[in-house]
Amino acid sequence: MEIIIFDTQKELDAYAADLFINTVKQKPNAVLGLATGSTPVGIYDKIVETTIQNKISFSEVTTFNLDEYVGLKPENEQSYAYYMNEHLFSHIDIPSEQTHLPNGMAEDIEAECTRYETMLGDQPVDIQLLGLGHNGHIGFNEPDENLSGGTHAVKLKEETMKANARFFASMEEVPQYAITMGVGSILKAKTIVLVVRGADKAEIVKEALTGPITTNVPASLLQTHAHVIVLLDREAGRMLS
Ligand code: F6R
Repeated sequence: MEIIIFDTQKELDAYAADLFINTVKQKPNAVLGLATGSTPVGIYDKIVETTIQNKISFSEVTTFNLDEYVGLKPENEQSYAYYMNEHLFSHIDIPSEQTHLPNGMAEDIEAECTRYETMLGDQPVDIQLLGLGHNGHIGFNEPDENLSGGTHAVKLKEETMKANARFFASMEEVPQYAITMGVGSILKAKTIVLVVRGADKAEIVKEALTGPITTNVPASLLQTHAHVIVLLDREAGRMLS
């Protein structure tokens, strides 16, 4: 596991963006695994900026996102599909049919999970971007006694729904379920880039990277992967020796 700590957000974003851009330059038909949340916003901005400046084409690239809420249409501003269009897809030349997120509007959610996992099996991810939850979650894989390997539906924890409530008009509108790639699906990526910022995540960073490998800290399973690059700001890395 390679761990790099950055002094500024700008440097971290540029480094992470370059990892993805270089993958596309070396392999124009690369498969990128993508994440949402606050962590990747600056990285996507930088990818867009570099792509426009250097006229890089994403026309042959395929993307898979980690997760999506069940019951939100792509037009809903809180959906991850909307987020990805806003922050990345609408600014680059990737054909929309090559951008994949789990379909949270599918009638048969089980079948949708199987369909997504099959697609991931057919097109293995070259480089996967990950953020980290305060409890060690990756994707929507929350701490538990057991973790599902493949893409699956999850009932969101009360604390996650409460944390999400600020984005919705009322608590009733907060989705109760999501579809997520499993930890097994994530670990199939050839390279994994875990990005974490902020003092509030310093403890979980230490636990995930140096603590025991346990399903109670899903990100600790990344220790079993041969090629993980961890990008941290000073605050998130302050408990690492
Ligand atoms: C997002 C995702 C989540 C986030 C994590 C960190 O697609 O799967 O695991 O990466 O919750 O979120 P932020 O970046 O908002 O702190």
